[in-house]
Amino acid sequence: MLVTGGAGYIGSHTCIALIENGHSVVVADNLSNSNKDSIEKIKHLTSKEIPFYKIDVSDQQALENIFANHHIDGIIHLAGMKAVGESVEKPALYYTNNLVSTIMLVNACLKFNIKRFVFSSSATVYGENKVPFVETMDLLPPANPYGETKIMCERILTDIAKVNPAFSVSILRYFNPIGAHESGLIGEAPNGTPNNLMPYVTQVGRGKRQYLSIFGNDYLTVDGTGVRDYIHVMDLAEGHAAAIEHLTKGVHVYNLGTGQGTTVLQLVKAFEAANRVTIPYKIVDRRQGDIASCYADTSKAQRELGWTAKRDLLSMCRDAWRFEQNFQEA
Ligand code: UFG
Repeated sequence: MLVTGGAGYIGSHTCIALIENGHSVVVADNLSNSNKDSIEKIKHLTSKEIPFYKIDVSDQQALENIFANHHIDGIIHLAGMKAVGESVEKPALYYTNNLVSTIMLVNACLKFNIKRFVFSSSATVYGENKVPFVETMDLLPPANPYGETKIMCERILTDIAKVNPAFSVSILRYFNPIGAHESGLIGEAPNGTPNNLMPYVTQVGRGKRQYLSIFGNDYLTVDGTGVRDYIHVMDLAEGHAAAIEHLTKGVHVYNLGTGQGTTVLQLVKAFEAANRVTIPYKIVDRRQGDIASCYADTSKAQRELGWTAKRDLLSMCRDAWRFEQNFQEA
């Protein structure tokens, strides 16, 4: 199995879940937002060899070199740029990177007769639909190029699968992955100031940042702060293994979430209780582009993949904190 973006946060956990399910894994990653150390840690945790290629997956020659050297029976395509704010500032970069890499990989699949393809999409494609989000809903364009690239890639894959009946595609719409591998060895280590809630909270927890800014408390939610469907990254990773196991011809779309909505304040309180640390916070203005509530209807993944998220919010908070304490530089 080729995992693109396999050195990253979701990718590294996915490699572990795939190996635990009996797959051999080859990783391609340009390390633009990750570190090769994570590959060493996966090897350590799984006692398996992982061939690693530091390449851009949009580099056709480099990609074909991998197919020449390894028997690849499927691709899990996680490589991509994912910062919403940056995508608004650098749309050309986002469209080029996220679209070209996907197209190159699909062309390689057709050329080398690789029939299984899993694509990492996002709940962002639902825009401001009514929660819970169901796979059959019409997609609403999110107001940023990052979200547009996810919708476009979904459409590209759907069109190509339609005329290549042997090609099987699983599109996974992630909700909000947080937490870390239970070992505390791998986790989310963003460069610079974190954009996302949990890495910000853990950095406040150890005093690297003074306080958390909570973006708005005037949403129509139980306590006014935004609701999200936080999912343990290992549950998300296991969702990929389930998607590969159950892949059949055609295009299949699945939500990977827990189905539970949690507000920002609830998450902060859960983190404090789980880890006995205090997270000072201030309420500030809403962040542009945020929606009030986002959580999944998870019944399709349960029904068709036999997969549900197993780990609770307490484990997510504990595991995120364990990783932060073990491995972050001061
Ligand atoms: N939040 C804060 N303070 C922070 C960071 C976040 O209050 O410092 C709040 C946000 O307003 C939101 C919640 O915490 O209510 C979660 O925010 P994240 O940035 O962690 O996650 P988002 O839901 O905004 O974004 C995530 C992914 C995107 C994806 C989106 C939709 O990061 O890639 O989910 O699925 F597009």
